Amino acid sequence: MTDVDGVASAEANPVTRRLTDWDRARLTALANTYGTPLYVQDLDRVRQNCARMRSAFPDADVRYAVKAHTGRAVLETVREAGLDAECASAGEVDRALTAGFTGERVHYTAVNPPARDLDRVVDIAAEAPAMTITLGAVDTLDRLTERGYDGRACLRVNPGVGAGHHAKVRTGAAPKFGIPYDRAERVAREAATRVDVVGIHAHAGSGIDADDLEDHRSLVSRMGSLARSLTAPATDELAADSADDGQIVTDPLALEYVDVGGGFGVPYRADEPPLDLDAVAEATRDALGVLPGVDLAVEPGRYVVADAGVLLTRVNTVKPTASEVVVGVDAGMTDLLRPAMYDAYHPIRLLGGATAAPAPADRESTSVTVAGPICETGDVFCRDRRIERPVRGDLLAVGITGAYGYEMASQYNSRPRSAEVALAGGDARLVRRRERHADLTRVERDATADADDETGGSR
Ligand code: LLP
Repeated sequence: MTDVDGVASAEANPVTRRLTDWDRARLTALANTYGTPLYVQDLDRVRQNCARMRSAFPDADVRYAVKAHTGRAVLETVREAGLDAECASAGEVDRALTAGFTGERVHYTAVNPPARDLDRVVDIAAEAPAMTITLGAVDTLDRLTERGYDGRACLRVNPGVGAGHHAKVRTGAAPKFGIPYDRAERVAREAATRVDVVGIHAHAGSGIDADDLEDHRSLVSRMGSLARSLTAPATDELAADSADDGQIVTDPLALEYVDVGGGFGVPYRADEPPLDLDAVAEATRDALGVLPGVDLAVEPGRYVVADAGVLLTRVNTVKPTASEVVVGVDAGMTDLLRPAMYDAYHPIRLLGGATAAPAPADRESTSVTVAGPICETGDVFCRDRRIERPVRGDLLAVGITGAYGYEMASQYNSRPRSAEVALAGGDARLVRRRERHADLTRVERDATADADDETGGSR
């Protein structure tokens, strides 16, 4: 491991942080102080993950996909670690700016952007012209130019190659995303007559593992070819084809970067090997080929924050049934949606703590279903999982929840969202307070107060 930002060795910065690596006494103390459900996010681990990413991709622009975890403490940590911010909405752009990212470090990736988002982002771009807007449809380009935008733009391409841990997160071949590959050159050259085309972008999907490496390679190689075409003069054929409307730039485009997306997976299961990031980086450079003057960019989200997070939850019910032991806990799909939405696996560890119960190590293991408090059959974190037998009052830790955990939380069943604590060094700091019942009705009360306001609070 090379030295980046003071993180020097594999020992100082291990490739994996497993749930078992967390200190049980510390997690227990946090749950006792702040209550449960409680998200814990370790900023030191976020910093380590940023450093490993930068070390694997030393020449690339590394952009943190903010959607994985938008908490301000995380954003500030990532910014200090030298990563840029990739934002999926105007809300994320606002959050990135509030966390201190300057315009040139903000990349807004518009996916069917609502008018309100474009209005806001064009306003922001007027103040911060070094910001880049990535667009994946000609309509988006038209809507931007209608708003007077002629600034930095990147073209999102649909490379026709998808990958990822679940069908719902494979984007690369989903028609929803990006300009179809076979039209991309023409659209980019056409766009260049109206905006400053500085990059091209594609994202295969989320949760890429070693088995997806070939797909990753083929996506990158397609993007490399496209970049080579764009940085050369347009072919006579394309020029002639476009001559009717005369609307393309035939000169080489001055591309600054090729962004090949994020999606780098992390091991959720104890026996799963970590992604070999150096091998991915090498495969990426190799597949991209030679592109003088054009940088590589990557957009990791999960990799930066996933193993920095744990969700703590308390057992409130233990119910033996004919088929299984159901362990009811106070966190559910409203706190952590991934198991219900993607059948995602998260490690679960018994921390113990119930009064008069033996320490976890002194208990028999048993097969359990861990279920939340939401009135939905799908509200289970796991089925048929062997752990030491929990009793009422125990704490459980759900691991690798730092990415897409709190972010996908909701108030369904009128459940207030959990609190979140950030760790840095020996300190713990409450960074999101637990929601209260009054928060559940706040927008209704505001609506009454705003009854005369026909915008519905949409400003
Ligand atoms: N770039 C773009 C354009 C993306 O759409 C995404 C994720 C990323 C980067 C970052 O991907 P990552 O490195 O985090 O895998 N909720 C799902 C994941 C959805 C990801 C959406 N886009 C989950 O919990 O698995």
